[in-house]
Amino acid sequence: MCGIIGYLGDREATPILMESLKRLEYRGYDSAGVAVLELPHNGDATRTSITKSEKKVDTLIEKLNANMPSGRLGIGHTRWATHGKPTYINAHPHTDCKGKIFVVHNGIIENFAELKAELQAAGHEFPSDTDTEVVPHLIEANYKGDFLAAVRAALKRIRGTYALAMFSSDDPELLVGARLNAPLVVGLGDNEYWIASDITAIIPYTKRVLVLGEGEVAAVTPLGPEVSTLDGKTVKPKIVHVDWDVAQAQKGGFDHFMLKEIHEEPDAVANAMRGRLTDDGVVSFREFDLPDDDLRRIREVLLLGMGTSLHAAIVGELVIEDWAGIPARAEDASEFRYRRPTFGDKTLSVVITQSGETADTLVALQQAKCRGALSVAVTNVIASSAARDADGAIYLHSGPEIGVASTKTFVAHLSSLYLLAMKLATVHGRVSLERRRELVEALRALPDQVQGIVDREKEIAKLADKYSGYKNFMFAGRGLGFPVALEGALKLKEISYIHAEGTSGGELKHGAIALLDESFPVVAICTDSPTREKMVSNVHEIVARNAPVLALVTKGDHSLDDVATDMFEMPAVEEASSAVLNTVMLQLFAYHVATKLGQDVDQPRNLAKSVTVE
Ligand code: F6R
Repeated sequence: MCGIIGYLGDREATPILMESLKRLEYRGYDSAGVAVLELPHNGDATRTSITKSEKKVDTLIEKLNANMPSGRLGIGHTRWATHGKPTYINAHPHTDCKGKIFVVHNGIIENFAELKAELQAAGHEFPSDTDTEVVPHLIEANYKGDFLAAVRAALKRIRGTYALAMFSSDDPELLVGARLNAPLVVGLGDNEYWIASDITAIIPYTKRVLVLGEGEVAAVTPLGPEVSTLDGKTVKPKIVHVDWDVAQAQKGGFDHFMLKEIHEEPDAVANAMRGRLTDDGVVSFREFDLPDDDLRRIREVLLLGMGTSLHAAIVGELVIEDWAGIPARAEDASEFRYRRPTFGDKTLSVVITQSGETADTLVALQQAKCRGALSVAVTNVIASSAARDADGAIYLHSGPEIGVASTKTFVAHLSSLYLLAMKLATVHGRVSLERRRELVEALRALPDQVQGIVDREKEIAKLADKYSGYKNFMFAGRGLGFPVALEGALKLKEISYIHAEGTSGGELKHGAIALLDESFPVVAICTDSPTREKMVSNVHEIVARNAPVLALVTKGDHSLDDVATDMFEMPAVEEASSAVLNTVMLQLFAYHVATKLGQDVDQPRNLAKSVTVE
């Protein structure tokens, strides 16, 4: 969704804003803009130059290259339209009536209509349709010579969510950031500072990052940032060190970030497990380090997530139930937040979110916490909102994921959930030492097995080529194959725009089978599992309706030899490992179908990397 960058320092701001906006593109957006406070020439008054584009960042960069504003303070934005179409006027930054205050915003000002009416009645004029535009006007209305005080007063009136970067041309050495339920960080350099909606924007510049808390304001001057509340109370800044590096956020010779990130999956699986697992299957998480007695009290596990993370949650549900014998349920966080669910303080709520910022997931987490559940966030982003709001965190350590479609973080989520399931199984005494050792062996073999699938990319690309002409797809599986089928369908539809559905093998004949004919292929997950034979029967039912079948089967299994249209052989592994390997195959399949069709796989239309609005 929207991205924010701000700069104050002793270098030229514009090239830094341009580069950072390119890095923010992956979040998904439709228009972009920057405001730079220009250095005065020959005694002229300071002036702020605004450059916007109703199109992509490259168009903005062309405009800036043609007419480069020179200054040391500036803000930039990529906009993902909520209020008002993606037009030039609606693109950020927005300004006040006098053109002195400049604001970029992520989030939604829920009471903007009421505030706008009030400000209009007082004579303010609003050229755009955005909710954001009330912010500079509200600051203007509260301005009595102290910009920071006016910002605080204005923000006290706002309901909704915001991450903001702002400056006033009357204060050429002050860059202000503020947040409420939307992430914002301040990057700390030597005599230079950045404000950004996410770390990816600033990793080339600094690894020291101040993470702003809810309802906090950062006033950044050449002396550094000062953090305070809306009431002006000073807050001790929380500074974290980020271990991501620049190379991870570049394509490194691959055509797309998504492909690069799939190729990083062997490492993603290894990193999620590194240092956390002993030979005897004893699991420890540094940031979720509860005494075993506390975990022994857990009677239910609630897994919350959205999209791909919800599919990981379903895998977690099945594995925790199976290995640990604890009732587990995966829930769509956006639905859960509006329910009155029954559970209590013996519940562990596991929040699955690669970004750590998904609005629905964060609210569901609050809901679970309010009802007394213990909580842990499984996330890729250090000090993200989910990590901070939950009682503990399990970090994926996958490095930045730039492709909008989650790939490496999904397999890292699965690996982390397997460790969590093992931990719960161990403290609940539900798994023998022997079985634990078997599982440890299986998990340790997983990175190499993932590499084995990635190495077969050409074979998968050939299949993708053959199937890329179809307009519809069904993905079917049972057991762990069911969430994998859901994920396979999601991956294909989001990056290729081909209609694809995921179903359980059993559910298929309760309706969806009516769709099947020779034009509607089914990707059937038939690898070894307790329900493999049932799935094989389902494939027979599918073939009887003339639908082409691409079956994922375990090497040596010949039961579909003359039945399936195509088969892709998988190694014989634990069912949990299979879920990861099958996913990798389906991700590559989706990638190659989408690239064959010429789609923009890294930034699919209408999608955003981090969905920070409800
Ligand atoms: C799909 C995808 C999304 C995200 C969902 C939740 O490829 O990436 O479905 O999984 O938006 O995002 P996070 O994990 O950041 O909470």
